[in-house]
Amino acid sequence: MKGKGKQATWGGRFSEGPADLMLRIGESVSFDRALARFDVQGSQAQAAMLAHVGLISGEERDALQAGLAAILAEVEAGDFVWDMALEDVHMNIEQALTERVPAAAKLHTARSRNDQVATDMRLWFRDACDRLDASLCGTLSSLVELAERTQSVTIPGYTHLQRAQPVSMAHHLLAYVEMLGRDRTRLAAVREQANVCPLGSGAIAGTTLPIDRAFVARELGFVDAAGNPRLTENSMDAVSDRDCFIDFASACATIGVHLSRMAEDFILWSSAEFHFVTLPDTFTTGSSLMPQKKNPDAFELIRGKSARLSGNLQTLLQMVKGLPLTYNRDLQEDKPPVFDSLEQSLLMLDCVAACLPGTVVNADACARAVADPALLATDLVDHLVLRGVPFREAHHVVGAMVGLSEKLDCPLDALPADAVAEVHSALGDEDWRKAFDLKQALASREKPGMPGPETVAGRIAYWQSALSE
Ligand code: ARG
Repeated sequence: MKGKGKQATWGGRFSEGPADLMLRIGESVSFDRALARFDVQGSQAQAAMLAHVGLISGEERDALQAGLAAILAEVEAGDFVWDMALEDVHMNIEQALTERVPAAAKLHTARSRNDQVATDMRLWFRDACDRLDASLCGTLSSLVELAERTQSVTIPGYTHLQRAQPVSMAHHLLAYVEMLGRDRTRLAAVREQANVCPLGSGAIAGTTLPIDRAFVARELGFVDAAGNPRLTENSMDAVSDRDCFIDFASACATIGVHLSRMAEDFILWSSAEFHFVTLPDTFTTGSSLMPQKKNPDAFELIRGKSARLSGNLQTLLQMVKGLPLTYNRDLQEDKPPVFDSLEQSLLMLDCVAACLPGTVVNADACARAVADPALLATDLVDHLVLRGVPFREAHHVVGAMVGLSEKLDCPLDALPADAVAEVHSALGDEDWRKAFDLKQALASREKPGMPGPETVAGRIAYWQSALSE
């Protein structure tokens, strides 16, 4: 009888064990063993609660907790033998405990794997959000540090990937800082949502036994700022709710989109056509055929992996959408996507953080690109507006000058005075050429959110202090 005797917890009503293929499709221990730490933590709290309400003795609690600690030590040392026939991390640990501690038979009192796995995952999400936040901070710090180095490097800003208006490279980089800053907020919200205790929901309808849900919630740190326990309010929701999974995967997908856009900028900037930056050898690769190549693979892979992150979110949304309440085994498939999202997001963030310090900014190439006077055509419009020309008319006038510059093959700021004077009377004196002072153009942009050097420096200082908290 295949598998018979190995699976310990639900075999009572079966006369035959599962087929090998059933074991293979049913097992999750190959991936949910990553939950061992949280499963042990949850079971230790469960034992404490059972003793607290008198369902087990103090000695039994101590034996269970010590046995669980010993199992965890084995898992962490890599000595624990996982058995696929025991399906998942929960039954593997319970079975190992059963072999060591007689009271193990009482551990699952008033508990189901449904509220157990929900609890484990909420503990996992709290930890995952903390780890991701630490990596986000690392990436933010390296971006802010590069921004600090590039405050006086002016580059063209682009819309439609066409030269638009000048900005400091710092201002451009700080755009990504704002995005990743919002990602921290999103993750904090996921953590807050995860921080609610589902234990005691049982399989679907709680239990008739005299458990203390608040006690176990406190044991596991599922408390609000004032230390009050936070409990899920509906047992059916608690065992089938996967919102945290979706919101976590969504936060990771958004981080992925932000990193992917940043990667794209660095890929463009490192091309010979832009040459704004040179990426470090340590984060690029060569070609097996073309000896001259230096490819921005790390950033390309970040761009590629971002697809995986949004795929993981899709997987979860599709998995859940047609499920009747409450728990369905489909939900076992919820873990690989979030595990993957965490590992890939950490890797992507850590790569960016490590790559930026070695990135060289090519000031000359930036200066050549930003010397294009057409970048200040809009500033010339503003100059005319200040002289009383209505905006639409001023826009049209400068448009005509751009046309003239193309026709005469002459830079916009060097157009002959007489030709310009003919375009509009407000261009009669030479004052209009002052609009092409790059330094002045940036210095005139010191309102909140603008690329003025003081404003940018203020934002850098803000982030430096926010990140040092
Ligand atoms: N390994 C299962 C999962 O991750 C645990 C819950 C099993 N519950 C059940 N009713 N079979 O979803």
